[in-house]
Amino acid sequence: MNDSDRLRRIGVMSGGGDCPGLNAVIRAVTKTAISDHALEVYGIEDGFLGLIENRIRPLSYADVSNILNLGGTILGASNRADPANFCVGEDADGKPICKDVSDRVIEYVSSRRLDAIVCIGGDGTMTAAAKLALRGLHFVGAPKTIDNDLMHTEVTFGFHTAVETATEALDRIRTTAASHSRVMLVELMGRNAGWLTLYAGIAAGADLILIPEIPFSLDAIIEQCLARSRKGKAYTLIAVAEGAAPIGGEVVVDRVVRDSPDPIRLGGISQVLCEQIGHSTHLECRATILGHVQRGGTPCPYDRVLGTQFGHQAVKLLMAGQYDCLVVMQNGRLTSVPLAEVAGKQRTVPPDHPLIAAARATGSCFGDEGAA
Ligand code: F6P
Repeated sequence: MNDSDRLRRIGVMSGGGDCPGLNAVIRAVTKTAISDHALEVYGIEDGFLGLIENRIRPLSYADVSNILNLGGTILGASNRADPANFCVGEDADGKPICKDVSDRVIEYVSSRRLDAIVCIGGDGTMTAAAKLALRGLHFVGAPKTIDNDLMHTEVTFGFHTAVETATEALDRIRTTAASHSRVMLVELMGRNAGWLTLYAGIAAGADLILIPEIPFSLDAIIEQCLARSRKGKAYTLIAVAEGAAPIGGEVVVDRVVRDSPDPIRLGGISQVLCEQIGHSTHLECRATILGHVQRGGTPCPYDRVLGTQFGHQAVKLLMAGQYDCLVVMQNGRLTSVPLAEVAGKQRTVPPDHPLIAAARATGSCFGDEGAA
């Protein structure tokens, strides 16, 4: 008997934060599993939290109909639950008390007779899944995040919808910036990766694009704003990633979510820069933080198609008995890599990426020009 003969019942879950296109993957996994392979499918609620709390429900073909264009996820999401380090309370000093509840998860998966799980997520989810895989559970991952920062895949679903949302915001900010002759900063998500800001910044023709991978010089930014105003260009549009930082300086932390596997939440660099640029140039400045608007709403067609491909491929891999790997896109083709190879890693923008050269050549600056 081979692995595919043994596969009868699978789970599907989305770990970490949500992003547009999740429902497309859940739909593709469920429909492919039911219609092509006569599997039973179970939806795990709120990612790993649902596995820890045994909140697992059957999913029928009808349950996943009419969800392709829905934002969010019908299964719910939580980015605060790693079974190997699950926070169960706080000590007297307010420090989280965490323990390994993997045994409980393994018991629930076995009592529900789930032969394998499609886990949709980013690097945190794949790291947690890789740990459970070492204990004998079977996973196939599908790469999700607006940050586009998973190793070994050139694209994650959710990213292109976020690029569209952010580009539209930048376009809108541009017109009001021009009316008022202001320096306008728009802050984008992305954690430690600048992909979202780079793509949206190029798409919107931002005058300055500030990303974590290219530390900026405040003097260079100020000089750009003043040079534009000297040339008679009265406004400056700046796309700044939440993880951007000055040369030799630190990122701006918005909050620390102590019971989260990745507790640091970035945010606020646009406001800091707004103050500094305004003070030094006497130009009028405003900052807008786009925040979670980038994660919400209807997925764009590209992400619906990509999510469908990832979900379908994940079930194909399970049926072929290929476990504990992540479906990835490489050179435009679907393939897979072992979970252990993506766990705990982040794919950032290489400073010599061709898009950076194209952006510079078409008039965008990165705040490093002339910097020592
Ligand atoms: O990883 C996706 C992401 O949206 C990041 O871009 C952002 O830094 C973070 O999640 C925000 O997390 P939360 O939803 O917990 O505020």
